[in-house]
Amino acid sequence: MAIRSEIIGCGSYLPERIVSNSELAKTVDTSDEWIVTRTGIQQRHIADDNEKTSDLAYKAGLKALEHAGMDASDLDLVIVATTTPDNTFPATATKVQAKLGMTKGAAFDIQAVCSGFIFGLSTADSFIKAGNAKYILLIGAEAFSRILDWEDRTTCVLFGDGAGAVVLRANTNNAPNPGDSAYTQAKGILSTHLHSDGRYADILYVDGGPSSSTNVGKVRMSGKEVFRHAVKNLTDVVTETLEANDLTQDDLDWLVPHQANQRILASTAKKLSLSPDQVVITVDHHANTSAASIPLALDEAVKDGRIKEGDLLLMEAMGGGLTWGSGLVRW
Ligand code: ACO
Repeated sequence: MAIRSEIIGCGSYLPERIVSNSELAKTVDTSDEWIVTRTGIQQRHIADDNEKTSDLAYKAGLKALEHAGMDASDLDLVIVATTTPDNTFPATATKVQAKLGMTKGAAFDIQAVCSGFIFGLSTADSFIKAGNAKYILLIGAEAFSRILDWEDRTTCVLFGDGAGAVVLRANTNNAPNPGDSAYTQAKGILSTHLHSDGRYADILYVDGGPSSSTNVGKVRMSGKEVFRHAVKNLTDVVTETLEANDLTQDDLDWLVPHQANQRILASTAKKLSLSPDQVVITVDHHANTSAASIPLALDEAVKDGRIKEGDLLLMEAMGGGLTWGSGLVRW
């Protein structure tokens, strides 16, 4: 009998403070017009000085548990995908575990930058399919503002802070096997696909960290190079995902992509022949929240009623590493 991972709840949290492009233009040489034209971003949320990644993650996690109608004591595992942990150690996930009042199970972080949520989804799916966990809380959370160089206009305008979460459940109740005719119609994660290529580490990285510097460091990026790789890698992984499930783009209801840049989203949607209405877009009001962007977008589209039971969702992301990947989910 196959075990299937189902997403049974989602939630999100955004810091209260909103920073518009015009506000940024007061401190760095940029303009609302430049940012909107090149990226589609209009504003971003920025965490307070005393608000840590674990605080954002905890609030999003609580909302996902509430949506799933579950208590933290039912969880076997908490995974936090983040590039901006509270500390080098312990894992931010263990802090979230403590805040949730969980004293059993396990908790760990995943680091795949903007692809972190997809890497977390794949890891959670594998735990469930292997029979090693029944209920998992997966959170993507970032206080990305802490690693931005606020004098570098080529990066600081692109990112924001926030957290999104999902609760996954093991369905052991006669779930269809891959290859069965009912497989792609049944609720749950159909497949995930992960990639990385460390040769491109120097086009998007942080110039600090515990074993290389006395500083945490700041984000450095060759924007044009990243853009070029993003369009190619995302197109490839989308094709790989559809082929693996013997589906075509016509079968998709929604693209729930990592939100880096409106132009990357438009290019991926065009390659998939999806109408712009089928792409969940939050980059305009959240900017790029790295590992948090997909669960934030998912939560918005589920709660406003766009994503409905039975819809087929394709999630995809690319980030520093380079890392990239996808997940195909029947909602
Ligand atoms: N405001 C005003 N001018 C700016 C700004 C800014 N914020 N940033 C750069 N410029 C200037 C540059 O200095 C340059 O000026 P110059 O011609 O005098 O040298 C000019 O604008 C053009 O710069 P480009 O880098 O060529 O601009 P481009 O059209 O490539 O857009 C951007 C830059 C938006 C960063 C784009 O390359 C991009 O989106 N890349 C993808 C990066 C990304 O999304 N990274 C996120 C992490 S990875 C991920 O999530 C997929």
